[in-house]
Amino acid sequence: MYLGIDLGTSAVKTVLVDAAQRVVASRSLSLTVASPHPGHSEQDPAQWVDAAFATLDALKAEHPAELAEVVGIGLSGQMHGATLLDADWKPLRSCILWNDGRSAAECAELEQRWPALRATTGNKAMPGFTAPKLLWVARHEPEIFAATKLVLLPKAYLRLVLTGEAIEDISDASGTLWLDAARRGWSDAALEATGLSRRQMPRLVEGCAPSARLLGELAQRWGMTKRPMIAGGAGDNPAGAIGIGAIGHGSAFVSLGTSGALLAPTGTIATNPERAVHTFCHAIPGMWIQAGAILSAASCLAWIARLLRTPEAELLAPLGAQPTAPSPVNFLPYLSGERTPHDDPDVRGMLDGISHGTDRDAIVQAVLEGVAFALADCRDVLADSGVAINAVDAIGGGSRSRFWLSVLANVLDIPVHRFADGETGAAFGAARLGRLAISGEAIEAVCTAPPRVETFEPDRALAQAYAERLPKWRSLYRPRR
Ligand code: XUL
Repeated sequence: MYLGIDLGTSAVKTVLVDAAQRVVASRSLSLTVASPHPGHSEQDPAQWVDAAFATLDALKAEHPAELAEVVGIGLSGQMHGATLLDADWKPLRSCILWNDGRSAAECAELEQRWPALRATTGNKAMPGFTAPKLLWVARHEPEIFAATKLVLLPKAYLRLVLTGEAIEDISDASGTLWLDAARRGWSDAALEATGLSRRQMPRLVEGCAPSARLLGELAQRWGMTKRPMIAGGAGDNPAGAIGIGAIGHGSAFVSLGTSGALLAPTGTIATNPERAVHTFCHAIPGMWIQAGAILSAASCLAWIARLLRTPEAELLAPLGAQPTAPSPVNFLPYLSGERTPHDDPDVRGMLDGISHGTDRDAIVQAVLEGVAFALADCRDVLADSGVAINAVDAIGGGSRSRFWLSVLANVLDIPVHRFADGETGAAFGAARLGRLAISGEAIEAVCTAPPRVETFEPDRALAQAYAERLPKWRSLYRPRR
């Protein structure tokens, strides 16, 4: 038995997976995000631990026999967050998350201080990444910066609580701007440019390698008699790739989670930092992932559902299975700024073209289309860096909507494949890493592609209509700085 724990932004999800790779049980608990100032996005690390422990307590209550058999655990997590710990490894402040936009000035400063940043990390300095957050803290909260003895990404903090050891996997570390992406190790020059050193960083392991064993007392609490090994794990995007078997060159997938991304595993680094293409190390050795990342995807649907006080399923039902024409309304999904391709933390969303005749369905459709157009921007900048995408698998909560996947197939003008349960993506991928860390099996033997249950093919006329709308949609973007 294996466990995958995904520390997401809106929830912690834990899945229990058997030797035949069947999900035996899964438990999820919601998390909240605090925004103490406009553009700021934070979470209390204690919330992650409470939620993760609660999912495990619940699994213990319902599946004690299976839990007793767990030998490997994998962790997946929201990327980029800065969790700052003191000398006793206690959090000094709330974690500054991946969609926090406060550190734009520090990004410019970082690139100036360390001109090799893009060439070494494969990324542009953007506020979502970890390093500029530390420069912001140094400037605005110097006493906290001075007290910082350890900097961890969210899931590494959870691992610290689970194992007592400070260890991070290389895929998640590649979202910090402190990693030499080609060498897959910390860069001293990068750390120095942020006023930090290796002493404040966790030890690094590959995602599918062992990291440390679960603490004895926690193994006892959950009745895990075999004291499971915890794998390095992965950032949520690389973990999603592992979950659907996207381990080789030529596979590509789209993630419709709280955030969205279009991702392609590659055997070499194919950067395009000028257009805010992301370079991540994959969770397996010798592979990387090139990605276009958008900050708001399924969270746009959650926003409109909140606004209209109507459950998401009720908003989607009247739209049917597929669109017949683009909505007359245009929506820019920049609810917390945007990364690819604009790198603009200050831009905000927009509804354009509303009239007396505009109804709820037109607005909901526009919201889904706006996210798809943003992913078309990602497709184009990936193509500019030599990564052509001809078909995608869809994962993440948003992939449950057949209407949304049909919009996506037509906007991107490529086939979009759906799995039976796209939702378990990252947690399932984490469980696979937990298995690899302990079993010694070949990566290809474990990381197979689950069966695709449906493919959405573009419709000629509709794809053409969306292609004609795209320039208008693009023209609505106005940089805020
Ligand atoms: C990727 C990114 C998000 C977070 C949260 O660059 O910021 O996907 O990992 O899901």
